[in-house]
Amino acid sequence: LLDECNVAALRLLDRHFDGHYRRIKRELFAELPTSILELGPGTGANFRYYPRGSHVVAVEPNRLAHHVLRREARRRGLTIDIIACEAEALPQETASIGVVVGTLLLCSVRDPGAVLREVCRVLRPGGRFLAVEHVAAPPASAAHAWQRRLAGVWRSLFNGCDLCRETEHWLRRADFADVGIEHFTLATPIFPIRSQIVARCTR
Ligand SMILES: C[S@@+](CC[C@H](N)C(=O)[O-])C[C@H]1O[C@@H](n2cnc3c(N)ncnc32)[C@H](O)[C@@H]1O
Repeated sequence: LLDECNVAALRLLDRHFDGHYRRIKRELFAELPTSILELGPGTGANFRYYPRGSHVVAVEPNRLAHHVLRREARRRGLTIDIIACEAEALPQETASIGVVVGTLLLCSVRDPGAVLREVCRVLRPGGRFLAVEHVAAPPASAAHAWQRRLAGVWRSLFNGCDLCRETEHWLRRADFADVGIEHFTLATPIFPIRSQIVARCTR
């Protein structure tokens, strides 16, 4: 039931968020190859930014989202293969992928270090990991105090999502040749997730 509610919630959130993310995602996804590995695509919130005719390999452990992903891919003129596994252990071969995408992913995974190790393993040299994530607000801020207060109930309500995750730290510790991070504030009334980053990491 939690997963089913999650699919419905993700579709609602996509409708709410897409306007806020549009400019950022258009820039982030401006130059994509025609084959994309996306981790945790949920209901396919990013598919509208991929060039028509692209092929997406979607790693999505929530099987209840798979039919929505297939439908969204068809609607956007994409072909898709869906793999129901976790990004902590990817089936792809080492150094075989040009671009990996993950948005609002690293907040939700069990082990961000393991996921980023896998991302670095499967990317070819020069390959890119593109991400948008909500992150822990600056430590002494009122926003951070609220994130700490709400973290427990938030985790139970949103399938393990961690409001206080230090995602920038995980990205900088991973084995990328270059890590580009921009901080921004998402203009959403859902205030615990206003602190966000957009990341462009090169292997
Ligand atoms: C908050 S949703 C974000 C969905 C979508 N990427 C977006 O930007 O709207 C988190 C997604 O990550 C998936 N997920 C959670 N843990 C995962 C893991 N260990 N490996 C891969 N995906 C995971 C969830 O099933 C869900 O689809």
